[in-house]
Amino acid sequence: MKPIQVGMLGIGTVGGGTFTVLKRNQEEIQRRAGRGIAIAMVAARNVERARALVGTDAVVVDDPFQVVNNPHIEIVVEVIGGTTLAKDLVMQAIANGKHVVTANKALLAEHGNEVFAAAHAKGVMVAFEGAVAVSIPIIKALREGLSGNRIEWVAGIINGTTNFILTEMRDKGLSFDAALAQAQALGYAEADPTFDIEGFDAAHKATILAAIAFGVPVQFKRAHVEGITKLAAADIAYGFQLGYSIKLLGIAKRTAHGIELRVHPTLIPVKRLLANVEGSMNGIMVKSDAAGITMYYGAGAGSEQTASAVIADLVDVTRLHTADAAQRVPHLAFQPDAMSDLPILPMADVVTSYYLRLRVADQTGVLAKVTGILADADISIDAVLQREADEVGGEDANQTDLIILTHDCAEARMDAALARMQALATVLQPIVRIRKEELA
Ligand code: HSE
Repeated sequence: MKPIQVGMLGIGTVGGGTFTVLKRNQEEIQRRAGRGIAIAMVAARNVERARALVGTDAVVVDDPFQVVNNPHIEIVVEVIGGTTLAKDLVMQAIANGKHVVTANKALLAEHGNEVFAAAHAKGVMVAFEGAVAVSIPIIKALREGLSGNRIEWVAGIINGTTNFILTEMRDKGLSFDAALAQAQALGYAEADPTFDIEGFDAAHKATILAAIAFGVPVQFKRAHVEGITKLAAADIAYGFQLGYSIKLLGIAKRTAHGIELRVHPTLIPVKRLLANVEGSMNGIMVKSDAAGITMYYGAGAGSEQTASAVIADLVDVTRLHTADAAQRVPHLAFQPDAMSDLPILPMADVVTSYYLRLRVADQTGVLAKVTGILADADISIDAVLQREADEVGGEDANQTDLIILTHDCAEARMDAALARMQALATVLQPIVRIRKEELA
């Protein structure tokens, strides 16, 4: 049988890796897919460079619309990224009846509902294993492997750049800026690292995970997004003394009232496997009713690592493209007419526990005032630690750090208590508040 004809939009790091791995493993891939998979056409900004890579195997053009409008192309692989041109190209490919494979988390988190609706109407597949934690087949695990379960929550380290920075801060006591510089020097962080360090990349991925875990539409705009730029090395050190690591987590949790969808620095017990996902690696925990807790680990970026996901999607599409559309795995795991309307909860309604650090005047009664405010708000304290902060002169200073761990409470209640504590004359700096998850 003639190989299925693939057109690729972009042949940079991911596209190049896909081309290389497809070629290297073509025999095994064909044995799995039941048919050869041929990249027949490539759109690239730098045509000469692309030709040097693909040789005579594929036609190289500089206009990506030539690929999506080519009647011989059956699958379009979109690896150019972004949400403008990429969206136009994906929508055009779908309109032309082509299946799409994409690793574009921003596109799907922000415009996925429109993309999937168009694909459903046309009876084509949009496959996106490469959009989340590339080397980990987490989309497959959630949509298919766990399809007998009621999923309760998903919590993941789904941004390698920030995980590298946090690991360096903890292990070497570096400041955020110094650790970021290290990440940039090693090529982990982009020259403009905003998307990673401010949490947007993780929030795009968490949005997609929430949608397929619970069968809700993608709702990136309703996600709470907080990055790691304000984290101090002192909090990482204090957290560690209390038995916790701080990780940037993407969390999607089902509650009776709605879904929590949030990305923020989080204290997690050091004894959890997830706390030991170090450096630029990714790790995802899923809690579901039948399987219990399952965990997935692997690289979240890289040329061949992303190619692994893109090719898995190509194999799936090759196997299924002649199947009745109704027999395929639904884009968001649940049938389009059986989606849930559970709302994404505002942060005020999120229930979690907290780490608080207050720089206070070292005077009699300060601790009593602070704990009194927490008691008034019905917030239960789990642990208290007092440390003479090195930077204010250690034991002899008239300032000290109060570190408090609380039990679970609604965020609105904590916000109100924090405002009261902050107003105390003896609280000398903005209070640090970091959410904590036991992941039990
Ligand atoms: N920049 C991402 C990371 C990889 O650092 O994990 C692509 O999403």
